[in-house]
Amino acid sequence: MASSSWCLVALFFAIAATIPAAHGQSPQAGFISIDCGNPKSDYVDHSTNLTYVSDDRFIDVGSDFYIQSNYINSSVPTLQFNLRSFPDGLRNCYTLKPVPQNSTYLVRATFMYGNYDGKNSQIQFDLHIGVNHWKTMNISDPSAIYTAEALSLATANSTSICLVNTGRGTPFISSLELRPFENGDYGEYVNASQSVVLVTRRNFGASDSVRFPDDPYDRVWSPYMDPSWSTLSSTSEVNNSGNMFEPPSAVMQTAVTPASGSQLAFYWDSVSPDDELYAVLHFAELQKLTGNSTRVFNITRNGESRFQWYTPPYLLAEYIYSVVPFEGSSRYEYDLNATSDSTLPPIINAFEVYSLMQLTQAATYPGDVDAMMAIKSHYQLKRNWMGDPCAPKAYVWDGLNCSYNPDPPRITNINLTSTGLTGEIYISFAMLEAVKYLDLSHNNFSGAIPDFLGSLSSLVVLDLSFNNLTGTVPDSLENLVSLQILNLAGNNFNGSVPDKLCKRSDAGLLTLRLDKNGCNKASSSRSKIAIIVIIAAVSGLLLLVVILVAVVWNIKKQQGRSSNTSVQPRSVVYSQQREHQISFESRQFTYTQLENITNKFTMVIGKGGFGMVYHGCLETGKQVAIKMRSVSSPQGMKEFLAEAQNLTKIYHRNLVSLVGYCMDGNCLALVYEYMKQGSLRDHLRDKAGCAKVLSWGQRLQIALDAAQGLDYLHKGCKPPIIHRDVKSSNILLSEELEAKIGDFGLSKSFHSDELTHVSTGTVVGTPGYIDPEYHQNYQLTEKSDVYSFGVVLLELITGRPPIVPGPGNVHIVKLIAASLSRGCIEEIMDETLQGEYDATSAWKILDLALRCTADTGSQRPTMFEVVTQLKSCLKPEIASNSNDIIYIEGFNMSREISSEMGASLLGPTVPSIR
Ligand SMILES: *[C@@H]1O[C@H](CO)[C@@H](O)[C@H](O)[C@H]1NC(C)=O
Ligand SMILES: *[C@@H]1O[C@H](CO)[C@@H](O)[C@H](O)[C@H]1NC(C)=O
Ligand SMILES: *[C@@H]1O[C@H](CO)[C@@H](O)[C@H](O)[C@H]1NC(C)=O
Ligand SMILES: *[C@@H]1O[C@H](CO)[C@@H](O)[C@H](O)[C@H]1NC(C)=O
Ligand SMILES: *[C@@H]1O[C@H](CO)[C@@H](O)[C@H](O)[C@H]1NC(C)=O
Ligand SMILES: *[C@@H]1O[C@H](CO)[C@@H](O)[C@H](O)[C@H]1NC(C)=O
Ligand SMILES: *[C@@H]1O[C@H](CO)[C@@H](O)[C@H](O)[C@H]1NC(C)=O
Repeated sequence: MASSSWCLVALFFAIAATIPAAHGQSPQAGFISIDCGNPKSDYVDHSTNLTYVSDDRFIDVGSDFYIQSNYINSSVPTLQFNLRSFPDGLRNCYTLKPVPQNSTYLVRATFMYGNYDGKNSQIQFDLHIGVNHWKTMNISDPSAIYTAEALSLATANSTSICLVNTGRGTPFISSLELRPFENGDYGEYVNASQSVVLVTRRNFGASDSVRFPDDPYDRVWSPYMDPSWSTLSSTSEVNNSGNMFEPPSAVMQTAVTPASGSQLAFYWDSVSPDDELYAVLHFAELQKLTGNSTRVFNITRNGESRFQWYTPPYLLAEYIYSVVPFEGSSRYEYDLNATSDSTLPPIINAFEVYSLMQLTQAATYPGDVDAMMAIKSHYQLKRNWMGDPCAPKAYVWDGLNCSYNPDPPRITNINLTSTGLTGEIYISFAMLEAVKYLDLSHNNFSGAIPDFLGSLSSLVVLDLSFNNLTGTVPDSLENLVSLQILNLAGNNFNGSVPDKLCKRSDAGLLTLRLDKNGCNKASSSRSKIAIIVIIAAVSGLLLLVVILVAVVWNIKKQQGRSSNTSVQPRSVVYSQQREHQISFESRQFTYTQLENITNKFTMVIGKGGFGMVYHGCLETGKQVAIKMRSVSSPQGMKEFLAEAQNLTKIYHRNLVSLVGYCMDGNCLALVYEYMKQGSLRDHLRDKAGCAKVLSWGQRLQIALDAAQGLDYLHKGCKPPIIHRDVKSSNILLSEELEAKIGDFGLSKSFHSDELTHVSTGTVVGTPGYIDPEYHQNYQLTEKSDVYSFGVVLLELITGRPPIVPGPGNVHIVKLIAASLSRGCIEEIMDETLQGEYDATSAWKILDLALRCTADTGSQRPTMFEVVTQLKSCLKPEIASNSNDIIYIEGFNMSREISSEMGASLLGPTVPSIR
């Protein structure tokens, strides 16, 4: 900026001399001096008498190294002999504390590469102070000591210095020093919204660097000399009291003047012309001017006048400084020209140049930072928990989510699930006032739920499930008015849940999970059949909140499922088989709304017994399938309503979820999530209109998905829900070919499509899928669903319908039995697979299908066992790259795997259908 202003500050504070020095404490009070990568104990540096400490107590990541011995010589300070390097993590930070709040501090880091890793690399990385970019370090000379120094205002009790890997080599650091200033020094340049980075700091006429103890703030003043100058010096103290920059007397006691002529010129180069710079020139007259001798000079920078008719005061430190920054040049030259009437040439004692560092990035709210720091140290957590918790966004701490608008960032989500935390829930959690989601599940927390959690007034989800918490649920949790989910399952509470929580749970405002029903209430108003209460904990269900599901969903999307030959590992899904989703979306629609959603019922996507199925699109853009039905009996309406309302509460990733329902006049409709890829049946019979055949891996995954959905109905719902009509047309596929079970939970009067539907007496189901035992004794159990699922498995294996057309319409189970007796798996497998399958898993699935379709329910596995078996099949399928599948004769295989398969495959009982 060409128009930068300059100020001369003359100091005539006589009183300053009368005030005793305010530096009451030891001179190095507040200094932090770290020899990075030095594992040894503290030592005193001989040049400063300052004590340097190992960095262990400031950082817990990175590795220690020594520079190579050929870089060690007498001119290299001990401080540079070792370093800490950070091969892991994008951002690694030192936390320096305490720093005196509201004062300016100097922070200085040095870097000497010394080819410590033997790679002779050139390295570039970034330094941050807190959340803001400080400097880009460019390390090219292994024998050079690079320095970064900045002046900054401490806004909190601690500050973090971070090394950021920018992909150009491993960041490292040799030393780190922090020096607090007093008396508001540098207050013109440093405030809450800006810091400055040192460009150069020079001491004219000196032969050595000046630093601590001569400079009480341990600034380093490097000597600056030119052959065309001569030195002036004084043994008298130069008074600097009241000077905002407090240049030490030792620096001011030397100065230079031109050896001849009346012009004194010096310059420096800026790193970039865009750097916004501040310069401070320090002057003090060192000669007692006698008689009529005068020293008067004009000061120009790059030819522009900066100050006129200047005369430095005798033995008093004075400065000329830029009030606003200047920029635009790569070299800046100062000219000090004596005016024509001056008898003496110009002098100068010292100068400093800084570049402006705008603090654009807001740091996390200090209260949140303090709380997280305390939690981190209390539980000795490592992770990437360094630097600011929320900012910059790219380096947010693992397990946290933050809000960034408005400033400052606040922590809104904390996920410390399965982190191995022990002991009591630490009090610092209570300071995180903005937290909405707090997930501390699956740790080993013990003791009672602390009262203070009731002060987290923003909480929406509190998950303390699966810890060792005891005692009673504190009344203070009633204060959490925004709470929507409270999961306390898997602990050992006694007593009942506070009344207000129960009431809110009853009113559907709060989803409460407990091992036993902690709410003592009579639920006479509800019919037993209608109540489908999900008591997640009874079956060890893990409640995961919507976010979690969203996360899993995203992961799944990224993993993709389109691969024709193999299934990607889905470890997230495996570990969360018992997951459970709560939807906040379920709602009642009016007929008019349905009209709008379906664009006046234009797009028919199916027709079932229930009625027509239409495609629709919610205001949110979510696609839905709407099953319409017109009813005549008001009795049916009532039953329907009860069931529909309960169904909206059942969520599992492998169940088609009910988004809502409509009961409006004669309209009765169920609004389901839309399953883009249609039904499994359509795919197997090639009616989906997609040319691609489902690969073996995809079939296995679909089988596992569907089995998980059924398992959830059987074990995750209280009372258990028996589907009654498991079949390939009720297994629907999402865009990513994730399978979900549809058409469950409605009593038989609303059940399923009539077209394929047999309803004689009390038998409900679809020919080919009906459990023979049920057919005989009308006893419907979970095992009936298992039978039907077995038939679906056979469909997946063979690609054929359950009743295979041909002479006498053979049932698929019989057909398989016949082929098996010839020991021939090729005959059985779907020929559209063209031999592209893993024989081991094929045999296993076949065995599983036959066990599912065993004659009697007691011989069949549970859906949970089915899920387990399918998972064990999927693992080899994942591992094997199907390009190198080994084809093995059926009988060899069966021998190899017979131990695992048990007797059913080889044994005499082959299931048959009546
Ligand atoms: C360091 O301390 C010793 C002993 O007090 C003293 O003799 C020496 O001069 C000091 N060195 C510096 C640089 O102050
Ligand atoms: C720091 O300064 C702010 C604003 O001037 C003030 O509110 C706060 O109390 C000060 N903190 C300390 C520790 O002096
Ligand atoms: C800073 O530290 C002091 C004393 O340790 C403490 O009282 C204060 O709350 C802290 N301030 C902040 C913002 O952390
Ligand atoms: C200083 O001024 C006196 C008269 O006031 C004059 O005689 C003398 O020559 C001057 N000296 C110099 C060095 O100019
Ligand atoms: C300062 O003096 C030198 C040499 O006498 C001259 O070349 C230069 O132009 C002068 N600078 C200014 C700004 O007057
Ligand atoms: C110093 O500045 C004054 C005021 O602009 C001017 O009259 C004078 O010529 C300047 N002297 C030099 C040597 O530049
Ligand atoms: C919590 O973290 C775990 C493991 O990192 C993850 O699987 C889960 O989805 C997260 N939960 C939430 C609510 O984000």
